[in-house]
Amino acid sequence: MNIVLLGPPGAGKGTQSKRLAERLGVPHISTGDLLRKNVTDGTELGREAKSYMDKGLLVPDDLVTRMLTNRFEQKDVRKGFILDGYPRNTAQAATLDGILSGPGLSIDMAVYLDTCEEVIVQRLSGRLVCSKCGANYHAVNMPPKKTMICDSCSAPLYQRADDKEETIRRRLEVYNKESAPVIDYYAEKGILSRLAADGEALAVLDKIIDLVRKNDDSVKVKK
Ligand code: AP5
Repeated sequence: MNIVLLGPPGAGKGTQSKRLAERLGVPHISTGDLLRKNVTDGTELGREAKSYMDKGLLVPDDLVTRMLTNRFEQKDVRKGFILDGYPRNTAQAATLDGILSGPGLSIDMAVYLDTCEEVIVQRLSGRLVCSKCGANYHAVNMPPKKTMICDSCSAPLYQRADDKEETIRRRLEVYNKESAPVIDYYAEKGILSRLAADGEALAVLDKIIDLVRKNDDSVKVKK
Protein backbone atom coordinates (compact mmCIF):
# COMPACT_ATOMS: atom_id res chain seq x y z
CA MET A 1 0.00 0.00 0.00
CA ASN A 2 1.11 3.55 -0.72
CA ILE A 3 0.34 5.65 2.36
CA VAL A 4 0.90 9.32 3.22
CA LEU A 5 0.93 10.43 6.86
CA LEU A 6 -0.24 14.01 7.39
CA GLY A 7 -0.26 16.26 10.43
CA PRO A 8 1.42 19.21 12.08
CA PRO A 9 5.02 19.15 13.32
CA GLY A 10 5.14 16.84 16.34
CA ALA A 11 1.97 14.93 15.42
CA GLY A 12 4.09 11.77 15.37
CA LYS A 13 4.46 11.32 11.60
CA GLY A 14 8.11 10.23 11.83
CA THR A 15 7.54 7.97 14.85
CA GLN A 16 4.51 6.26 13.33
CA SER A 17 5.87 6.08 9.76
CA LYS A 18 9.00 4.23 10.89
CA ARG A 19 7.02 1.69 12.90
CA LEU A 20 4.31 1.27 10.26
CA ALA A 21 6.92 0.79 7.52
CA GLU A 22 8.58 -1.97 9.58
CA ARG A 23 5.25 -3.71 10.21
CA LEU A 24 4.26 -3.57 6.53
CA GLY A 25 7.77 -4.35 5.22
CA VAL A 26 7.91 -1.27 2.97
CA PRO A 27 10.29 1.74 2.85
CA HIS A 28 9.73 4.86 4.95
CA ILE A 29 10.36 7.99 2.90
CA SER A 30 10.72 11.20 4.92
CA THR A 31 11.54 14.46 3.15
CA GLY A 32 12.70 15.91 6.50
CA ASP A 33 15.16 13.00 6.96
CA LEU A 34 16.35 13.24 3.33
CA LEU A 35 16.90 17.00 3.71
CA ARG A 36 18.76 16.60 7.03
CA LYS A 37 20.99 13.93 5.41
CA ASN A 38 21.83 16.40 2.62
CA VAL A 39 22.65 19.05 5.27
CA THR A 40 24.91 16.62 7.19
CA ASP A 41 26.62 15.48 3.98
CA GLY A 42 27.17 19.12 2.97
CA THR A 43 25.61 18.71 -0.49
CA GLU A 44 24.65 21.77 -2.55
CA LEU A 45 20.98 20.94 -1.93
CA GLY A 46 21.65 20.64 1.81
CA ARG A 47 23.44 24.01 1.91
CA GLU A 48 20.50 25.68 0.15
CA ALA A 49 17.87 23.93 2.29
CA LYS A 50 19.53 24.61 5.67
CA SER A 51 18.72 28.32 5.88
CA TYR A 52 15.00 27.62 5.36
CA MET A 53 14.91 24.68 7.77
CA ASP A 54 16.69 26.59 10.54
CA LYS A 55 14.05 29.33 10.31
CA GLY A 56 11.16 26.84 10.34
CA LEU A 57 10.19 27.72 6.76
CA LEU A 58 9.39 25.36 3.91
CA VAL A 59 12.29 24.58 1.58
CA PRO A 60 11.43 25.74 -1.99
CA ASP A 61 9.26 23.20 -3.84
CA ASP A 62 11.69 22.67 -6.72
CA LEU A 63 14.52 21.52 -4.39
CA VAL A 64 12.34 19.09 -2.43
CA THR A 65 10.61 17.79 -5.55
CA ARG A 66 13.92 17.07 -7.28
CA MET A 67 15.11 15.15 -4.24
CA LEU A 68 11.87 13.16 -3.98
CA THR A 69 11.77 12.37 -7.71
CA ASN A 70 15.23 10.77 -7.35
CA ARG A 71 14.00 8.72 -4.38
CA PHE A 72 10.98 7.45 -6.31
CA GLU A 73 13.27 6.24 -9.11
CA GLN A 74 14.50 3.50 -6.75
CA LYS A 75 12.78 0.14 -7.25
CA ASP A 76 11.93 -0.54 -3.59
CA VAL A 77 8.95 1.86 -3.75
CA ARG A 78 7.15 -0.59 -6.07
CA LYS A 79 6.25 -2.82 -3.09
CA GLY A 80 4.54 0.10 -1.31
CA PHE A 81 5.80 2.97 0.86
CA ILE A 82 5.03 5.25 3.79
CA LEU A 83 5.58 8.89 2.88
CA ASP A 84 6.09 11.47 5.64
CA GLY A 85 6.69 15.24 5.24
CA TYR A 86 5.45 15.46 1.66
CA PRO A 87 3.17 16.90 0.32
CA ARG A 88 3.28 20.09 2.38
CA ASN A 89 1.16 22.30 0.13
CA THR A 90 -1.40 21.62 -2.58
CA ALA A 91 1.15 22.28 -5.35
CA GLN A 92 3.31 19.48 -3.91
CA ALA A 93 0.24 17.22 -3.70
CA ALA A 94 -0.39 17.66 -7.43
CA THR A 95 3.34 17.22 -8.15
CA LEU A 96 3.35 13.97 -6.16
CA ASP A 97 0.50 12.58 -8.27
CA GLY A 98 2.61 13.44 -11.34
CA ILE A 99 5.80 11.81 -9.96
CA LEU A 100 3.90 8.62 -9.08
CA SER A 101 1.99 8.38 -12.36
CA GLY A 102 5.32 7.80 -14.22
CA PRO A 103 5.84 4.30 -12.75
CA GLY A 104 2.03 3.75 -12.64
CA LEU A 105 1.65 4.33 -8.88
CA SER A 106 -0.79 6.41 -6.81
CA ILE A 107 -1.56 7.20 -3.17
CA ASP A 108 -4.01 4.63 -1.72
CA MET A 109 -4.56 6.22 1.65
CA ALA A 110 -3.79 9.48 3.51
CA VAL A 111 -3.87 9.36 7.31
CA TYR A 112 -4.19 12.64 9.20
CA LEU A 113 -2.79 12.56 12.75
CA ASP A 114 -4.85 15.03 14.75
CA THR A 115 -2.98 16.54 17.73
CA CYS A 116 -3.45 19.64 19.91
CA GLU A 117 -0.87 22.45 20.09
CA GLU A 118 -0.01 21.89 23.76
CA VAL A 119 0.94 18.25 23.02
CA ILE A 120 2.94 19.32 19.96
CA VAL A 121 5.11 21.81 21.85
CA GLN A 122 5.69 19.30 24.70
CA ARG A 123 6.68 16.59 22.21
CA LEU A 124 8.99 18.70 20.07
CA SER A 125 10.78 20.46 22.90
CA GLY A 126 11.70 17.02 24.38
CA ARG A 127 12.51 15.21 21.12
CA LEU A 128 15.90 13.47 20.84
CA VAL A 129 17.12 11.95 17.57
CA CYS A 130 19.85 9.37 16.94
CA SER A 131 22.78 10.88 15.03
CA LYS A 132 23.38 7.58 13.20
CA CYS A 133 20.12 5.68 12.55
CA GLY A 134 17.64 8.56 12.98
CA ALA A 135 15.55 6.77 15.65
CA ASN A 136 13.29 9.14 17.60
CA TYR A 137 13.12 9.40 21.39
CA HIS A 138 11.58 11.83 23.85
CA ALA A 139 13.32 12.95 27.03
CA VAL A 140 10.15 12.27 29.07
CA ASN A 141 7.60 10.34 26.94
CA MET A 142 9.97 7.80 25.35
CA PRO A 143 13.42 8.10 26.98
CA PRO A 144 16.36 5.97 25.79
CA LYS A 145 17.60 3.28 28.21
CA LYS A 146 20.97 5.10 28.60
CA THR A 147 20.99 8.91 28.77
CA MET A 148 21.53 10.46 25.28
CA ILE A 149 22.51 7.07 23.72
CA CYS A 150 20.47 5.28 21.04
CA ASP A 151 18.96 1.94 22.19
CA SER A 152 19.27 0.47 18.68
CA CYS A 153 22.78 1.46 17.53
CA SER A 154 24.48 3.05 20.62
CA ALA A 155 25.23 6.31 18.74
CA PRO A 156 24.79 9.66 20.55
CA LEU A 157 21.39 11.42 20.47
CA TYR A 158 20.98 15.12 19.64
CA GLN A 159 18.27 17.79 19.69
CA ARG A 160 17.15 19.05 16.26
CA ALA A 161 18.14 22.66 15.48
CA ASP A 162 14.51 23.52 14.59
CA ASP A 163 13.14 22.20 17.89
CA LYS A 164 13.63 25.51 19.74
CA GLU A 165 10.35 26.94 21.03
CA GLU A 166 10.44 30.02 18.75
CA THR A 167 11.10 27.87 15.64
CA ILE A 168 8.42 25.37 16.69
CA ARG A 169 5.85 28.23 16.78
CA ARG A 170 6.98 29.39 13.32
CA ARG A 171 6.69 25.84 11.93
CA LEU A 172 3.15 25.63 13.30
CA GLU A 173 2.21 28.93 11.62
CA VAL A 174 3.64 27.69 8.32
CA TYR A 175 1.79 24.40 8.75
CA ASN A 176 -1.58 26.09 9.38
CA LYS A 177 -1.18 28.44 6.43
CA GLU A 178 0.41 26.18 3.81
CA SER A 179 0.10 22.52 4.76
CA ALA A 180 -3.37 22.21 6.33
CA PRO A 181 -5.13 22.57 2.90
CA VAL A 182 -3.48 19.27 1.83
CA ILE A 183 -5.97 17.51 4.15
CA ASP A 184 -8.85 18.74 1.93
CA TYR A 185 -6.95 17.64 -1.19
CA TYR A 186 -7.07 14.01 -0.03
CA ALA A 187 -10.58 14.34 1.50
CA GLU A 188 -11.85 15.39 -1.93
CA LYS A 189 -10.24 12.30 -3.46
CA GLY A 190 -12.08 10.18 -0.87
CA ILE A 191 -8.89 8.60 0.54
CA LEU A 192 -8.47 10.56 3.79
CA SER A 193 -8.72 8.96 7.26
CA ARG A 194 -8.46 11.10 10.40
CA LEU A 195 -7.44 9.82 13.78
CA ALA A 196 -6.83 11.28 17.24
CA ALA A 197 -3.06 11.04 17.77
CA ASP A 198 -2.63 12.58 21.24
CA GLY A 199 -2.49 9.14 22.87
CA GLU A 200 0.39 6.78 23.60
CA ALA A 201 2.52 5.91 20.53
CA LEU A 202 1.75 2.17 20.43
CA ALA A 203 -2.00 2.83 20.78
CA VAL A 204 -1.82 5.30 17.86
CA LEU A 205 0.05 2.71 15.75
CA ASP A 206 -2.65 0.10 16.48
CA LYS A 207 -5.31 2.57 15.29
CA ILE A 208 -3.38 3.24 12.07
CA ILE A 209 -2.99 -0.50 11.42
CA ASP A 210 -6.75 -0.99 11.95
CA LEU A 211 -7.39 1.70 9.32
CA VAL A 212 -4.94 0.07 6.90
CA ARG A 213 -6.65 -3.32 7.34
CA LYS A 214 -10.10 -1.76 6.82
CA ASN A 215 -8.81 -0.22 3.62
CA ASP A 216 -7.26 -3.45 2.33
CA ASP A 217 -7.88 -6.68 4.25
CA SER A 218 -5.31 -8.56 2.16
CA VAL A 219 -2.42 -6.46 3.48
CA LYS A 220 0.18 -8.46 5.48
CA VAL A 221 1.17 -6.94 8.83
CA LYS A 222 4.23 -8.30 10.68
CA LYS A 223 3.96 -8.90 14.45
P1 AP5 B 1 10.15 17.39 9.06
O1 AP5 B 1 11.33 16.63 9.51
O2 AP5 B 1 9.19 16.73 8.14
O3 AP5 B 1 9.45 17.99 10.34
P2 AP5 B 1 7.91 18.30 10.71
O4 AP5 B 1 6.88 18.07 9.67
O5 AP5 B 1 7.99 19.64 11.31
O6 AP5 B 1 7.58 17.15 11.62
P3 AP5 B 1 8.40 16.67 12.79
O7 AP5 B 1 9.50 15.75 12.32
O8 AP5 B 1 8.84 17.82 13.66
O9 AP5 B 1 7.30 15.91 13.62
P4 AP5 B 1 6.67 14.49 13.46
O10 AP5 B 1 5.22 14.63 13.18
O11 AP5 B 1 7.46 13.61 12.54
O12 AP5 B 1 6.82 14.01 14.98
P5 AP5 B 1 7.77 12.90 15.60
O13 AP5 B 1 7.28 11.54 15.22
O14 AP5 B 1 9.21 13.20 15.37
O15 AP5 B 1 10.62 18.75 8.32
C1 AP5 B 1 11.60 19.59 8.89
C2 AP5 B 1 11.83 20.77 7.96
O16 AP5 B 1 12.27 20.30 6.66
C3 AP5 B 1 10.59 21.62 7.65
O17 AP5 B 1 10.35 22.61 8.64
C4 AP5 B 1 10.97 22.21 6.28
O18 AP5 B 1 11.88 23.28 6.42
C5 AP5 B 1 11.70 21.06 5.61
N1 AP5 B 1 10.81 20.21 4.79
C6 AP5 B 1 10.52 18.89 5.00
N2 AP5 B 1 9.68 18.44 4.05
C7 AP5 B 1 9.43 19.48 3.22
C8 AP5 B 1 8.62 19.65 2.08
N3 AP5 B 1 7.87 18.63 1.58
N4 AP5 B 1 8.58 20.87 1.47
C9 AP5 B 1 9.32 21.90 1.95
N5 AP5 B 1 10.09 21.82 3.05
C10 AP5 B 1 10.16 20.62 3.69
O19 AP5 B 1 7.43 13.10 17.16
C11 AP5 B 1 7.87 14.25 17.85
C12 AP5 B 1 8.29 13.87 19.27
O20 AP5 B 1 7.16 13.38 19.98
C13 AP5 B 1 9.34 12.78 19.34
O21 AP5 B 1 10.20 13.07 20.42
C14 AP5 B 1 8.55 11.50 19.66
O22 AP5 B 1 9.34 10.61 20.41
C15 AP5 B 1 7.38 12.07 20.46
N6 AP5 B 1 6.13 11.35 20.21
C16 AP5 B 1 5.63 11.01 18.98
N7 AP5 B 1 4.45 10.37 19.11
C17 AP5 B 1 4.20 10.34 20.46
C18 AP5 B 1 3.14 9.81 21.24
N8 AP5 B 1 2.08 9.20 20.68
N9 AP5 B 1 3.18 9.97 22.58
C19 AP5 B 1 4.22 10.58 23.16
N10 AP5 B 1 5.29 11.09 22.49
C20 AP5 B 1 5.27 10.97 21.15
